[in-house]
Amino acid sequence: MVRGLPGLLGVVGAGQMGAGIAQVAASSGLQVLLVDRAAEQLERAAAGMRHSLAKLGRKGALSEDPEAILRRLQHATDLEALSAADYVVEAVPEGEALKAGIFRQLDGLAPPHVVLASNTSSISITRLAAATQRPDRVVGLHFMNPVPLMSLIELVRGIQTSDETFEATQRLALHLGKTTCVSLDRPGFIVNRILMPMVNEAFFALMEGVGTAHDIDTGMKLGTNQPMGPLTLADFIGLDTCLSIMRVLHANLGEDKYRPCPLLMQYVDAGWLGKKSGRGVYTYS
Ligand code: CAA
Repeated sequence: MVRGLPGLLGVVGAGQMGAGIAQVAASSGLQVLLVDRAAEQLERAAAGMRHSLAKLGRKGALSEDPEAILRRLQHATDLEALSAADYVVEAVPEGEALKAGIFRQLDGLAPPHVVLASNTSSISITRLAAATQRPDRVVGLHFMNPVPLMSLIELVRGIQTSDETFEATQRLALHLGKTTCVSLDRPGFIVNRILMPMVNEAFFALMEGVGTAHDIDTGMKLGTNQPMGPLTLADFIGLDTCLSIMRVLHANLGEDKYRPCPLLMQYVDAGWLGKKSGRGVYTYS
């Protein structure tokens, strides 16, 4: 075990974010245990990681063979397996009841020194911490999508987070090769507080016919030097995720400027969730 770093890092949830976190952690030399109750999700995650690592390997972005990285990754379908982990990152879908339930379970099975971190993009770390008996050992560790390519981690301090927990988390983030920004535990933290209203406004512009989706994206992509236009980015993140973050901002900050765009709500109602469902603002084959 490297001094000050977890000997075994646990990751709960093998979706896009959890798999990305597990991949980056294993690439950094850590032993990783990825847990998801759905075996098929773990298989999808393994295939995705293999594909991503092969791509990064071809570009010379890895310091060792992908197979050596994958050997540091174990999988399990039972949360109990995480009793062996020294630090756990929760990355299940956004939903306060779901996440609080996982935190309660982790709290019951992890030794008392273990830090429980959440990759939540908008749920209060203070409230998740309150679901446990170790609120000083709960922290926000918010990765950006796609995790292997994005250099930022947003660190979120709940009101009860101890300095020791925060420092261990910062050490881990730096070990993973990421740059950090630190946010207080406020709705949407820093990144989504600023990013999501822009995405939401792009939907208002689309709904009002200010421009076509293509023109809105081209305008913002080339006019403000962003890698993707806001509607393409929304499809990439998932329209359901964007809507749920807007709802958190609106409910907790109250102001009309955070009101979710009706067109965004309608797309989500239709099941047009973006790239992952094959259709969002754009269609994907
Ligand atoms: N692993 C490895 N390679 C990957 C990858 C992954 N997970 N995802 C994409 N790539 C590869 C692509 O396949 C592509 O490979 P080739 O060059 O072989 O074709 C390469 O990376 C570059 O992809 P692109 O050609 O699409 O080029 P790009 O310059 O557009 O880079 C990008 C892709 C990094 C995703 C870039 O478009 C980008 O930065 N987009 C914005 C992403 C962003 O803003 N993310 C934050 C969202 S907000 C968030 O995550 C917080 C939240 O809570 C919602």
